[in-house]
Amino acid sequence: MANTILIGAQWGDEGKGKIIDVLTTEADVIVRSQGGNNAGHTIVHGGKTYILHLIPSGILRRGKVCVIGNGVVVDPIALVGEIEQLRRAGVKIAKNLLVSDCAHLVLPYHRALDEQRELRKGRAKIGTTKRGIGPAYADKAARTGLRISDLMQPRLFSKKLQAKNRENNAVLRALGARPIDYEEVNKNYLAAGVKLRPFVTNTVVYLHNAIQRGKQILFEGAQGTFLDIDFGTYPYVTSSNTTAGGASTGTGVSPNRIDRVVGVMKAYTTRVGEGPLPTEDRHLSHLLHSLGREFGATTGRARRCGWFDSVAARYARMVNGIDELAITNLDGLDTVDPIRICVGYRLNGKRLNVPPSDAVQFDNCEPIYEELRGWKQSTSSAKKLSQLPKAARDYLKRLGELAGAKISIVSVGPTRAQTILL
Ligand code: IMP
Ligand code: MG
Repeated sequence: MANTILIGAQWGDEGKGKIIDVLTTEADVIVRSQGGNNAGHTIVHGGKTYILHLIPSGILRRGKVCVIGNGVVVDPIALVGEIEQLRRAGVKIAKNLLVSDCAHLVLPYHRALDEQRELRKGRAKIGTTKRGIGPAYADKAARTGLRISDLMQPRLFSKKLQAKNRENNAVLRALGARPIDYEEVNKNYLAAGVKLRPFVTNTVVYLHNAIQRGKQILFEGAQGTFLDIDFGTYPYVTSSNTTAGGASTGTGVSPNRIDRVVGVMKAYTTRVGEGPLPTEDRHLSHLLHSLGREFGATTGRARRCGWFDSVAARYARMVNGIDELAITNLDGLDTVDPIRICVGYRLNGKRLNVPPSDAVQFDNCEPIYEELRGWKQSTSSAKKLSQLPKAARDYLKRLGELAGAKISIVSVGPTRAQTILL
């Protein structure tokens, strides 16, 4: 395997966790480059279901090294919790996990501010995961953030935390929210810092040396293209670059060391949180929810569901330079007939083949649909393309044509075995 970026090519929750787990067989090192514990990657392994938020999905495979890169925002309490949970489940975590000393910290005041800002927005809320992600990245950009390297220096950390906590408490009080107790945060964070110390290093150097030694790197994307802070449906986005470029800035691996981009898309579309989703369809949402599908891995919220959107898919291919596509959740459409695919948008009487940059315009786009016949039978035990019904193969072929990329993986269920490699 070449050094590969795996990216969410829709609105997040494309099923990246499972595809990463499949691709991890060929990788030596799996690295997260952005986002924080807003992410939720579901992996079914050895009959158990794991939901990972911060630790790369490769952790479940022996002999792989997982790296949390500089571009990730780390809630140390959540990270320690995740490590301990995995250890209780029998997963060994020792030299197989590395955390960048440059990664920024998510602090309790970030979560409190996230919540307050959402409350104050009322109906215009973003629908964040309330994990403090936006405020943590805001502090990073404002050059007022605390990093893992600070946490590794307890006296310095306490001093910086006290000043930041005081400042943020003034804001929280003004908003009518409860202030945060410095002493308690200080104690808990320093304790988490002690537990994280063995994992902390300069991950840029580690990755560089790994590449020099011919190791294969898999860059694990979190969230999705249309949640990207620059290219997504701003302001209904997350606060990091979820697109392919983020893999480089978020790890310190230069673009010319990366060989391949794999985009992950569901066979339909989902979104959790507010913001434009032109192909949203109430009946499809209802059907998928009634099958027990499409509930968020991080917040448990029901995801909004819609038809496959090839306008968005083509744009995602452009922004990320997608070489190959993994199509997931094909089995979600097993009972649907007919199946619609969005092939264009109509806005103010004009046809668009590219999503508008403005969220209000995006929201006003009317999808133009093409209809395909459903297959009305289970696909979940197919092991080869030839074992899929003809209508399912036709559907995949059309998705590939419209998205303009080669489909190399099709997923028909949550387990590793339910994967068709083309
Ligand atoms: P935040 O990242 O918590 O600030 O949330 C911003 C937006 O991104 C909200 O619409 C969230 O629902 C969405 N979001 C954040 N992380 C994920 C994810 O891992 N999967 C899907 N949606 C996400
Ligand atoms: Mg998810």
